[in-house]
Amino acid sequence: MTKDIETRCLHLSEEQERENFRSTFGSVSFPIFQTAAYVHPGVRDDYVPGQDHISLSAGFNYSRESNPTRSQLEKIVAQLEGGAGALAFSSGMAAITLLFELFSPGDQVVVDVDLYGGSVRFFEEIARRHGIEFIRADFTKDDVEALTTTKTRAIYFETPTNPMARVSDIAKLSAVAHRRGALCIVDNTYLSPYFQNPLALGADVVIHSGTKFLAGHHDVIAGFLVASDPDIVERLRFLCTTTGSALAPFDSWLVLRGVKTLALRMERSQENAFKIVEWLQGQRRVKSVFFPGLPDSLGYEIMKRQARGFGSMVSFEVESKELAISTLTRVKTIFFAESLGGTETLLTYPIAQTHASVSEEGLRASGLNDRVLRLSVGIESVRDLVADLDQALNG
Ligand SMILES: Cc1ncc(COP(=O)(O)O)c(C=O)c1O
Repeated sequence: MTKDIETRCLHLSEEQERENFRSTFGSVSFPIFQTAAYVHPGVRDDYVPGQDHISLSAGFNYSRESNPTRSQLEKIVAQLEGGAGALAFSSGMAAITLLFELFSPGDQVVVDVDLYGGSVRFFEEIARRHGIEFIRADFTKDDVEALTTTKTRAIYFETPTNPMARVSDIAKLSAVAHRRGALCIVDNTYLSPYFQNPLALGADVVIHSGTKFLAGHHDVIAGFLVASDPDIVERLRFLCTTTGSALAPFDSWLVLRGVKTLALRMERSQENAFKIVEWLQGQRRVKSVFFPGLPDSLGYEIMKRQARGFGSMVSFEVESKELAISTLTRVKTIFFAESLGGTETLLTYPIAQTHASVSEEGLRASGLNDRVLRLSVGIESVRDLVADLDQALNG
């Protein structure tokens, strides 16, 4: 029987747990294997000179390739997303960069207009220089299929998007990608595997900034790729081993510890988010609230179909740029800081922070402007959060 997701945040299969029990002295907390190399008992009989990945010891050789603490985390994240395997990276951007090693000059990727600014910067400044062509589209309006060509290798999007909370239909876009023999790649950072599993809806690769909800405590930078096809997992592992962007043992342990409380944190922060959204909607100086849990939001019906929750990321537009800036500097319990998905509530100014490198045209297309603030709702008392927002906005 498949265990519920709350349990899968903490436990692997019974067989894997038995194996762990033997190799970790029965310790309840999975140990940090802080080692670069592993001692080998000898050379295997089937050793072939020059062949890659010859295993000389009990499965581990060198921590750039693999490490027991990182492997444990990768197994947990793979089972949470329902993938054939997962890889843990030193950041979300390291994961995205590595993923693009799957593509060659001349390949085309169709991407949504509203994306994390760092991803846009990578596409524009680096991947494009390496010959990858990008077609940008508004996935909520444009006919994505009509934009694909014989050179299309992937369709790439976030849902909900950072920061405008726009929603795309994962099953529909996966089918579009597959009709072209292309990959459907979904950045699932905003909802985490607790609320949404894109692979189950047909996507091929899931990306996470593990820095966010998975780790959950604003204390570590990490990233993940999870794929449904074992051949893609194997190819990504080869690329990661070769280029060396995997997550360090201690950081892997921090994420492992964070994931244990994923279910509790997601539920609590979502509950807080709904109450804050309701309060924001009643504020004269707040002009719009962008939250996919609002029944009148554009993607609400799709969200209800494809996700188990709406998350805790809330963006809102205030009446002026001046008010946006003064709110940022006046919050006290809430921190003015650039991240999301952790225990503490953070307020971010996307146009000057996360999306500072997005072009004017890109901003126009996504709808982001200098009056929009992004709130990553944490697990504090919602009464204290609302009081803080009230004094910052209206005081
Ligand atoms: C949606 C999304 N994807 C990817 C990233 C990049 O992750 P990292 O900051 O861990 O490199 C971020 C960072 O904010 C993000 O919000």
